[in-house]
Amino acid sequence: MILIQLTDLHCRPHGQPAMRTCETNMLAERAMRAVRNFRPRADAVVITGDLTDGGTGPEYDEVAAILGRTLLAEGLAVYVIPGNHDRREVLRDRLGHLPGVLADPEFVQYVVDDLPVRLVMLDTVVPGAAHGVLCPRRLAWLDATLAAAPDKPTMLGMHHPPFACGIRLMDTINLHEPNALAAILSKHRQVRRIICGHHHRPITAPFGRTIASIAPSVAHQVELTLHSDQPNQWNLEPAAFDVHIWLPDEGPDGAIVSHTAYVEPAPGPYPFLAPPEYPGRAL
Ligand SMILES: [Fe+2]
Ligand SMILES: [Fe+2]
Repeated sequence: MILIQLTDLHCRPHGQPAMRTCETNMLAERAMRAVRNFRPRADAVVITGDLTDGGTGPEYDEVAAILGRTLLAEGLAVYVIPGNHDRREVLRDRLGHLPGVLADPEFVQYVVDDLPVRLVMLDTVVPGAAHGVLCPRRLAWLDATLAAAPDKPTMLGMHHPPFACGIRLMDTINLHEPNALAAILSKHRQVRRIICGHHHRPITAPFGRTIASIAPSVAHQVELTLHSDQPNQWNLEPAAFDVHIWLPDEGPDGAIVSHTAYVEPAPGPYPFLAPPEYPGRAL
């Protein structure tokens, strides 16, 4: 199974760049074309939040149009969750045609059961805030959802990472109260991975007995400034997406292995040519 994770599109109304200079609509479409053309073809595409920059109707209309002429036109299944730049009610109104978006009456949270790895999509948004939280109702839903399929390898999708990464500003707006999530996961060992967005960088960390990872943005990235009190800034490091593959025969319980793939094509490929001095054995 191949699951492609895009994140943090930050689409703007037609013709308006994000932060006045970053052409996020063009960058989102460029990334979706790369995903559409990725081979082997993905079994599903997950977008882990910040679909828009301001959560407005015209921005979601741009997202819907870009999805419609790229991933959906290719017949790919697309699963979205909101981030802090989204407005849940507008997302539900404009993207209600995407699977799962209207499954819960209040939150954008749902399960995808028809893949070899079960996807549990979580809504960590706190309206009016940049950080995330899983409130008691969302935690209870997660607990019951995981209890319903204890033996199936499971991946959680959520916008806000539940761990600190050393970039101070981002760490103030990650998932608050992560211990409540950790307590639930301690009861459900089938959760093999948590995939997140929000930090606009590729980052991996342990979380309880599982692994949590953040995919880079398909648009702008956050500067890598560790342990600094300076305000964070953005840059245009290479846009990328994550490719998660399920290898059922790897190890005793199968394995989810994750790659980061760059949107922009690079020079190459070139053949490996070993020098005569190569101490190994040439392939
Ligand atoms: Fe973002
Ligand atoms: Fe975010």
